[in-house]
Amino acid sequence: MHQFLPYAWFQGNCVPFEEAKVSIATHALHYGTGAFGGMRAIPDPQATDTILLFRADRHAKRLSQSARLLLTELSEAKILAALETMLRANRPTTPIYLRPFVYTSDLGIAPRLHNIETDFFIYGLELGDYLSPEGVSCRISSFTRQEDRSLPLRGKISGAYITSSLAKTEAVLSGFDEALLLNSRGKISEASGMNLFLVRDGNLITPGVDQDILEGITRASVIELAGAMGIPVIERPVDKTELFIADEVFLTGTAAKITPIRQLESTPLATDRPVMNALRERLVKITEGRDKDYEHWITRVAISN
Ligand SMILES: Cc1ncc(COP(=O)(O)O)c(C=O)c1O
Repeated sequence: MHQFLPYAWFQGNCVPFEEAKVSIATHALHYGTGAFGGMRAIPDPQATDTILLFRADRHAKRLSQSARLLLTELSEAKILAALETMLRANRPTTPIYLRPFVYTSDLGIAPRLHNIETDFFIYGLELGDYLSPEGVSCRISSFTRQEDRSLPLRGKISGAYITSSLAKTEAVLSGFDEALLLNSRGKISEASGMNLFLVRDGNLITPGVDQDILEGITRASVIELAGAMGIPVIERPVDKTELFIADEVFLTGTAAKITPIRQLESTPLATDRPVMNALRERLVKITEGRDKDYEHWITRVAISN
């Protein structure tokens, strides 16, 4: 069971987590018509009473865009203000994961997005490593990543996560840690909740935004960092068998951070990962607020009374 933060943001106020309850008739529960965010926050290792949020503006922007894709309005300012209020109420002392959620809170039964009540909440939980930092084994999922013509893939639409859930469970029940999903064109798209990178001959390669991926914020950060570190970045379609001969293969995501793939199906992958290690080291420094060049990626929230 997770260790949840004591207070949630619910119906416009901070309330005890146990009191933040919705009806069983809630529209989004039935139709997956919600969209969520997922962001990490840590107590500042250098200062007391300060919480560091990684790329809060980008997370707020993506959630606001997700809301728009569900035909509702949720401003970035409203998301950020609620996050800060909620952090001050909870005063976390360990690394946490924040889960904002915008959803159709209506009790009406018709699947629709017009003439419908929506709401927004946030809760948080303590979260350490989601995947082993030493590396994970992956299989190619028998489930295909959805296409944008079926649902908006640029938002974290809750209903879309049925595919991630099926793929993850299929992988785990068949002895692997994670699933890689191909898109409908047979190219590598992403994992159940992470984007994928590989390194070949010094180039960092990742499926482009036209490959039915979620436009990950860690992905965008890694691409920008690599550019600044002089590592050439190529966004292009990736074939499954390229991963077997790649010099490095790794996953990125808020929960997974940067996690190497050590095995794909029955084949062990390369274990020397200088590019990934350099990027990971830099990202850790940035998220801990120790990198002056990337201060603008960090939001500092003062939680003193
Ligand atoms: C399907 C999917 N792909 C990729 C990612 C990685 O995105 P981010 O780096 O913004 O966490 C996530 C996690 O949010 C995800 O759910």
